[in-house]
Amino acid sequence: MNPPAAPLDPKHEKALQALIAWWDEAGIELDAPVVRPRSAPAASPSRSAGAEPARHQASRATQSPAPAATAAAARAAGFGQTVQEGPSSLELAAKAQTLDELKSAIEAFEGCALKRTARNTVFARGDRAARVMVVGEAPGKEEDESGEPFVGPAGHLVDRMLASIGIERDTVYMSNILNWRPPGNRTPTQDEIALCLPFIERHVALKAPDILILAGGLAAQALLRETTGITRLRGRWQDYAIRGTDGEASGKTIPALPIFHPSYLLRRPPEKKSAWIDMLALQSRLSLED
Ligand code: URA
Repeated sequence: MNPPAAPLDPKHEKALQALIAWWDEAGIELDAPVVRPRSAPAASPSRSAGAEPARHQASRATQSPAPAATAAAARAAGFGQTVQEGPSSLELAAKAQTLDELKSAIEAFEGCALKRTARNTVFARGDRAARVMVVGEAPGKEEDESGEPFVGPAGHLVDRMLASIGIERDTVYMSNILNWRPPGNRTPTQDEIALCLPFIERHVALKAPDILILAGGLAAQALLRETTGITRLRGRWQDYAIRGTDGEASGKTIPALPIFHPSYLLRRPPEKKSAWIDMLALQSRLSLED
C-alpha cells in the first residue's frame, strides 16, 4: 500500500495550481488519475498565456479556413453520420418545430464526440421573444458547468456591452455555434462546426430574431458562409440567410452584425473602442426598426 500523501508545501501547491491552469488552457484533459493530451489538434499551436483561450483571438479566427466548404462537403456526405450511426444533425434539426423540440433533439443527439467530454449540453439563455439574438462560438468552462451560454467572464462583458446601450441581459437571447464545450477550450474543428451548424441554423430560424449579433470570427464565418476575417467583417451589417429545413437558404434574411468576440476584447482592451462603435450601430438599427 502507498504511504499517505504528505501535505504539499504552499509554494509547491501554488506552482501545481498554475501548471494545472496552464494544462487546462493548453487543452490537456485532466481526468485524474490519467493525464491525456486532447484528442484533436488545435488549428494552430501558437497560444499566449492569459485568462482566456487563444481560440477567441481575432487573428486565429482570421486564419481559420471557412466552414462553408466543409459544411457543404459534409452535407453532401450526409454529415452527422460520421461520428456515430443515427439520424444526422440536419435531419434532427429539420424535425424540430419549436425551440423546445430543438433543445430536446440536441440533448438527445449522440453524433458529436464533444458531448462525451462535456458536462452539459448548452442550448440558450434569455428571452425567447427578444428582438436581438447573440450567437457566440462555444461554451467555456462556466457555461459547461452551468448549462447556460455566456455566463463566464466573456458573458459578463457582453452583458456590460449591451447594458451600455440600455439592453438588459434578460431581454436578449443567446446561443452558440457549438452546444458542447471543446475540451480545454481548444479551437473547434471544422468537422465539429459543420456537424453542429444545422442545429444553430434551425435555432435561428425558429427563434426568428429581428437582429443577429455574431460574436467572433468563428460565428460570423460559419453563419454567413464567409471566409473574410472578423477584423474586416466587424461593424459591417450583413444579410444572414435564414436556412430552410433542407439546410438551404430560404430567401429570407435577418440583419446580422459581426463583432469582436468578447474573450478577444478581454485580452485586448484597446479594441473595446470598436465594440462601443458596434453597440452604437446596434442601438441605432434597433431604433430604426422600432
Ligand atoms: N461563452 C459562450 O457561451 N460563448 C462564447 O463564445 C464564449 C463564452
